[in-house]
Amino acid sequence: MTDIIHAAERIAQLRKEIEHHNSLYYVEAKPQLSDYEFDKLLEQLIALERQFPDLVTPDSPSQRVGGAITKEFVTVIHREPMLSLSNTYSLGEVEEFYNRVKKLLALEGVDEQEMVAELKFDGVAISLLYNDGLLVRGATRGDGIHGDDITVNIRTIPAVPLKLRCVADGEIEVRGEVFMRKEDFEQLNESRPEEERFANPRNATAGTLKLQDSAEVARRRMSFVAYYLKGIRDESTSHFSRLEILEKLGFSTGNHYQLCLKLNDISDFIAEWSEKRWKLPYETDGVVLKLNAVTFWDKLGATAKSPRWAIAYKYPAQQAQTVLLDVIFQVGRLGTITPVAELEPVLLAGSIVSRSTLHNFDEIERLGIMIHDWVVIEKSGEVIPKVISVVLEERPLGAVSIVVPSHCPECGTPLQKPEAEVSYYCTNEEECPAQIRGRLLHFASRNAMDIKSLGKALVDQLVATKLVKDVGDLYFLQEPQLEKLERMGRKSAQNLVRALDESRTKSYERLLYALGIRHVGRATARELSQAYHSLEMLSHASEEELSTVPDIGPVVAHSICDYFAKPSVPLLLEKLRDARFSLCASESTTQVNRNFEGLTVLFTGSLDRYDRQTASELIIERGGRVVNSVSKKTGLVVAGHDPGSKLDKALKLGVRVLSEEEFEAML
Ligand code: IVH
Repeated sequence: MTDIIHAAERIAQLRKEIEHHNSLYYVEAKPQLSDYEFDKLLEQLIALERQFPDLVTPDSPSQRVGGAITKEFVTVIHREPMLSLSNTYSLGEVEEFYNRVKKLLALEGVDEQEMVAELKFDGVAISLLYNDGLLVRGATRGDGIHGDDITVNIRTIPAVPLKLRCVADGEIEVRGEVFMRKEDFEQLNESRPEEERFANPRNATAGTLKLQDSAEVARRRMSFVAYYLKGIRDESTSHFSRLEILEKLGFSTGNHYQLCLKLNDISDFIAEWSEKRWKLPYETDGVVLKLNAVTFWDKLGATAKSPRWAIAYKYPAQQAQTVLLDVIFQVGRLGTITPVAELEPVLLAGSIVSRSTLHNFDEIERLGIMIHDWVVIEKSGEVIPKVISVVLEERPLGAVSIVVPSHCPECGTPLQKPEAEVSYYCTNEEECPAQIRGRLLHFASRNAMDIKSLGKALVDQLVATKLVKDVGDLYFLQEPQLEKLERMGRKSAQNLVRALDESRTKSYERLLYALGIRHVGRATARELSQAYHSLEMLSHASEEELSTVPDIGPVVAHSICDYFAKPSVPLLLEKLRDARFSLCASESTTQVNRNFEGLTVLFTGSLDRYDRQTASELIIERGGRVVNSVSKKTGLVVAGHDPGSKLDKALKLGVRVLSEEEFEAML
């Protein structure tokens, strides 16, 4: 008891001290401690909090600083793939699923079929790992195989136990859904400027989980429900009792699950919750049905994406009626003109809708829609609302036809419509500001060069002031030029220049995607990077040659040749070359070795030639795993400049430490 009192006092004192230095550093820009001294204080706090997990609070500086350390989330590999569920909107299909499972069970000689019906929580799936009862990792689903390690953010969610309530030796995995209660979501949205509001709680949750500042995550008050447990020693063979175990361990399961012995019980559960769900403090979009007998889960197996022992029934989409106020025309990065409906704001499925894409002019014709019409909009469980029909009986006398614009609303160039396509295009590729902005934003986007500090507001200014005309120009921007822009202080200018500098080390495959060649998505970029190891080679490939690359058909091949035939492209490539881009695949992407097979690797300090994400990708490609904390099990530590206290710990534990040069040699 006295131990915990002493610890509580020391923790409070440390927090105050750290907060003080945090504020000196971040708010007043007058740091008094070196990074090393500051890290030492933090280490002490983290160590004490580990020893007394009950004393951890979501607003502890340990959480916030955890976020600050995680500049980029480390990629982790899931213990087993995180599958999704097959969805249906039809009760008939639920019955088919039920009968299918019945047949498969009969083949195993089982004729009793219990199903568990649960609510389908509308949030974001995560995986939690506990080691000897302590939360050690929280990760996003990602692509199902790899996720992002977002432990620092997960730790701020009060409903995620940092320490399990019962003894649980070894490693256990809990999966579930992070979500935002409707009330917390509304509060969050009210605190934000209108243009930055989230469309729904799910979007807000997804956005929040990715934040780098875990203190902000803590402020946003997210919740969690668990629906899957694996690895506990006295693991039961029934899903129902696993849910009960989860509750005993300290998780919320939402508490509304039910054992269904007959098909009728399932349809009753679905009917019961179709209305009752509106009264819940959080959003649900359906019901999940799972076979109770866990022993048969493996036997029934899974398709590529979803298990055969479970299904999700989704409630039909919600609809609303509103008035079409106007149609505006947006110009995309490839010059495509997209009509967008501006709607009288209306509440639909918990959020206000005031805009909706109309896709193209064929769609406008198909809908037979006119300005001032009443329209039916629908959110089909997904984020973006759609206009699905016109209420013709309500058409006002003054309804106005929607006219296809003859000229680009951005640059005034006459629009063109290729015979075989539904879209109109602005052909002023070189000069149209909307197209230039679109290309820059695509280049900076997450899957491309991932330059977070290059957002929409900045791109607008860079293009308007003519500082940048193509992505190559970005690399010649000077801090003084940037500082002059609106809302760009010295620090932001430095950050952008640094981020751009770091982006040069991104893989050749990413660069290929980032160039924004029509029809070249991430997967095609990967194929191309393997078939043509340099942009030089790719730029000389003929359509026939390109068509022989796996998954590249004539349309894509034509588009690639078209791209390299543009007069502006050689100049762009020259700029990138001058900006020290290598424009070719590194050894690693052409022929990957397995030099990191089975090794867990930790980075501390910054590397000269790689950002964290790229370095992590290189390790994962070579069979290794990237971790965030040092232990005896850590295989390697790569130490860059200004390594943190993790290096001391590694040395103490006798973990092998590599310099950047040695790391590179090992790659
Ligand atoms: S079970 C292997 N149970 O729905 C099955 N998922 O559409 C793992 N979800 O990715 C999922 N509520 O994010 C399960 N009670 C529930 C759920 C649930 C919501 C989400 C989950 C999953 C998605 C599939």
